[in-house]
Amino acid sequence: MKNEKLKAILDEALENIRNALELEDINERRNRYLGKKSELASMGSQIATLPPEEKKTFGQEMNEVRTKIAEAIEARMAAIKAKALEAKLKRETIDISLPGRNETLGARNPFYIVKDEMTEIFLGMGFEVADGPEIETDMFNFELLNIPKDHPARDMQDTFYIDENTLLRTHTSPVQARTMEKAKGAPIRIICPGKTYRRDDDDATHSHQFAQIEGLVIDKGINIGHLKATLELFAKKMFGEKREIRLRSSYFPFTEPSVEVDITCANCGGKGCNMCKGTGYIEILGGGMVHPNVLKMNGYDPEVYSGFAFGIGIERVAILRYGIDDIRKFYNNDVRFLHQFKKKD
Ligand code: PHE
Repeated sequence: MKNEKLKAILDEALENIRNALELEDINERRNRYLGKKSELASMGSQIATLPPEEKKTFGQEMNEVRTKIAEAIEARMAAIKAKALEAKLKRETIDISLPGRNETLGARNPFYIVKDEMTEIFLGMGFEVADGPEIETDMFNFELLNIPKDHPARDMQDTFYIDENTLLRTHTSPVQARTMEKAKGAPIRIICPGKTYRRDDDDATHSHQFAQIEGLVIDKGINIGHLKATLELFAKKMFGEKREIRLRSSYFPFTEPSVEVDITCANCGGKGCNMCKGTGYIEILGGGMVHPNVLKMNGYDPEVYSGFAFGIGIERVAILRYGIDDIRKFYNNDVRFLHQFKKKD
């Protein structure tokens, strides 16, 4: 380049453009080197004063300098923009390697698992589910079940009274009387799972609140064979084909004859061990043939109708089923206990 001044302008401009870091710097450079008040612009107006033989070269060199500065500005601007975009993208990236938040799923209380399973078994045999109140009257809890006021059988169940005639039910058996009242003499085949309350000291095998499944069948020609077959099928479905049951004679005021039902011990298979206290059997429920007085009091002719009833402790079954060592574990909601019953699917 012949013109020293143009060369100096170009060198300085290129150097400064290279130093520009922000878009504002670029605008400033554009003004400074290509604007109306730039050195280049003022040199351009001098072209008229030059001798004709120099005009052409000067004009060409001027254009060349202008183009080169403009190109450098464009290039630098593109670089600054690219850098800004890159920084923005970097700021906005999501770190997919971060671990997510875990939602821990709860587990069903084994009490409810067993309650549902027991209910299913009886539904499969044609039973329907009936319901009754947990706050019960003396009438349904005792009187209509052949337990009059002075009956010694009340002792065992002397319990949470609200007033003289109202109490927390001590068993699910009042639902027997309630169902008979509703059925008005028609045949009955119901179960009733529900909570019951007794003034027991709470320890590993007792709780002031526990649950039973009541069963009641009333029809013509029902005999104790039906009771035995029903409970045998229940025991095998609940505890396995190999389990045997045994009926022992017992006493309840509302059944006659009354039985207590044992199943062969799962631990020793009937030989006798610690768990069954050497007997080979474990008691699971009480039952019997509905007492004629109960049938009569609740509107059924004992000469025509007969029936059987039973009451199974739900926790008792769950304890045997899972080998749980303390009844209180059902009620404490300790997740370390509950999570052992998580469904593995
Ligand atoms: N209700 C009795 C109890 O709680 C059990 C039972 C129910 C017995 C039905 C006979 C018939 O111990």
